[in-house]
Amino acid sequence: MTIQSADKANITKAARSLRLGELVAFPTETVYGLGADATQNNAVAQIYALKERPAFNPLIVHVGRPDWVAGLAVPDGRFDALTRAFWPGPLSLILRRRADSPIGAEVSAGLDTIAVRQPNHPVAAALLAHVKRPLAAPSANPSGQVSPTTAKHVFDDFGDRLNFILDGGPCATGIESTVLDLTGTTARILRAGVVGVDALEKVIGSVTPPDIVQAEKTGTSISSPGQLEKHYSPSLPVRLNAQRAIADEALIGFGNTPRATINLSPAGNLDEAAASLFAALRSLDDPKRFRGIAIVPIPTLGVGQAINDRLTRASKGQ
Ligand code: TXA
Ligand code: MG
Repeated sequence: MTIQSADKANITKAARSLRLGELVAFPTETVYGLGADATQNNAVAQIYALKERPAFNPLIVHVGRPDWVAGLAVPDGRFDALTRAFWPGPLSLILRRRADSPIGAEVSAGLDTIAVRQPNHPVAAALLAHVKRPLAAPSANPSGQVSPTTAKHVFDDFGDRLNFILDGGPCATGIESTVLDLTGTTARILRAGVVGVDALEKVIGSVTPPDIVQAEKTGTSISSPGQLEKHYSPSLPVRLNAQRAIADEALIGFGNTPRATINLSPAGNLDEAAASLFAALRSLDDPKRFRGIAIVPIPTLGVGQAINDRLTRASKGQ
């Protein structure tokens, strides 16, 4: 059986598999990750193959503690301040690689930088503590598609092609981590997430917000390929800022939405909407029932910005 409950015995088994160079999907607070020992090139290559991920799109390295990072990359004062404020949590930090970093070049897609994050999930923490190695883990979905927030989503995507999925229940945050580039003098958000500009600026001063224009660029020169214009896409067309469903569309609601097929948060709570967004897109992506997915406007406050970022890219899918 591919899906295994995340009890002690299975976490130990999963850690053994990872050390042998095998892939294990595991829960984090944001989305499920497709994990491999980041120090084994063969293991990392399997991630790219299974996801059909373009070789130019680098992976996030997950660590068990902030002090693991010094052996992999070159942290600075901003790193220390940010990790004290936000780790473990949904913030990935991009640093320069150490020349002698044990992390394979494929993990960084050949860049001289590396993204690191300490996830805030008891199963991910226990797994990292057992493996005692940094884990490369992109979201556990085929490249370009909707991220998984349950173990079943991962199984739906990969089936028996993946031997081990640790089931830690649904992800509480539901949207991928904020990606913050610390390699320049001014920190720059490459991907919006629940940790927003205001919270970051309280800790390190001026931060460059995510640039939607950057998303219009495509190709290999892009600095964070997750910023590609089309991403997070279901197979059905997605229509934004809808007032109602047209013809055979499903309708995703937020707040008071009469006739919503699924309502992300009837109470109009953005955190709740973030947590339920990907599950809603997945369950409505059914060509036998619908011809498209319409979604009402979602406010751009706080995490609403990250939600709108994902929806905009999902709507560029066709
Ligand atoms: O919440 C998350 O971040 C989840 C969980 C599993 O931790 N992971 C995740 O990974 O979303 P992935 O591979 O789906 O997205 C990683 C993003 C991509 O946009 C990638 O381009 C960017 O991080 N990234 C990784 N390393 C980078 C680097 N060295 N420079 C610039 N961008 C980088
Ligand atoms: Mg992803």
